Amino acid sequence: MIFRKKNVTFHTKSFKIAIAFGAVAAILQPLSGDLSAKGAAQRQPAKLAAMEAHFHTEPYSKLLIGGIPDTVNKKVNYGIELPGLLSFLVHDDFKTPVNGLDKIPQKDQPNVPVTHYAFQLMVAIGMFLLAIGLLYFFALWKKREWLNKNWFLKLFIAATPLGFIAVEAGWTVTEVGRQPWIIQGVMRTSEAVTPMPGIHYSFYLFTLIYFTLSLAVVFLLSRQIKMVPELYDHN
Ligand code: HEM
Repeated sequence: MIFRKKNVTFHTKSFKIAIAFGAVAAILQPLSGDLSAKGAAQRQPAKLAAMEAHFHTEPYSKLLIGGIPDTVNKKVNYGIELPGLLSFLVHDDFKTPVNGLDKIPQKDQPNVPVTHYAFQLMVAIGMFLLAIGLLYFFALWKKREWLNKNWFLKLFIAATPLGFIAVEAGWTVTEVGRQPWIIQGVMRTSEAVTPMPGIHYSFYLFTLIYFTLSLAVVFLLSRQIKMVPELYDHN
């Protein structure tokens, strides 16, 4: 709305509240992500290895950026590898090997490409949000004129759906990455499938309820935004 120059005063105020929370969260997110990854390395090494498409246990374990995992030949194509950095993130030193997929029996491994792509997507979005969070505070501090520039606003427009996409990607990492276990090392997902008949009907019902709620949210929010000129703003 600020970009479209509609009710700028009102939307600038609401943007400021949202971005103050959003930018602080975006700066803290990689720190919380680092803790999550350390936890996964300890409790779910197969998940961490799949996230990183880390096939081979070796000293100076590499942190992988991007890349296409080749699960047949157990290698990664087109990725950027940073030697020692995965060891450092997991063990706080550059040399100690991080357990790779070679330490985990094939039947106990999750789907590597799905876990890896979802993780890369989440981290890429996290880094972008971190960058624009820092940029926002820099603009507040030194370059106030940027706050109304089109290129600056476009960055935040682009960021609007990204948080949601990262949430879905993160959830995919968690859920796909823990397969085939529903309780790590104790019970397999296949053993936990309920034999109850007709269970899919409650799934359809919940889908319908959430779909209806989503429509209601979209309707209420758009009505709220349309009411802004009458209620608050005269620009
Ligand atoms: C910036 C770097 C980030 C790192 C290093 C990171 C790291 C991680 C890791 C390691 C997990 C798996 C945890 C586990 O299953 O044990 C995870 C899950 C998750 N992440 Fe991220 N993340 C990052 C950014 C983000 C962002 C920007 C969002 C959302 C805006 C996000 C949302 C999530 C969600 C929703 C989960 C699933 C949590 C659950 O279901 O338990 N992450 N993240």
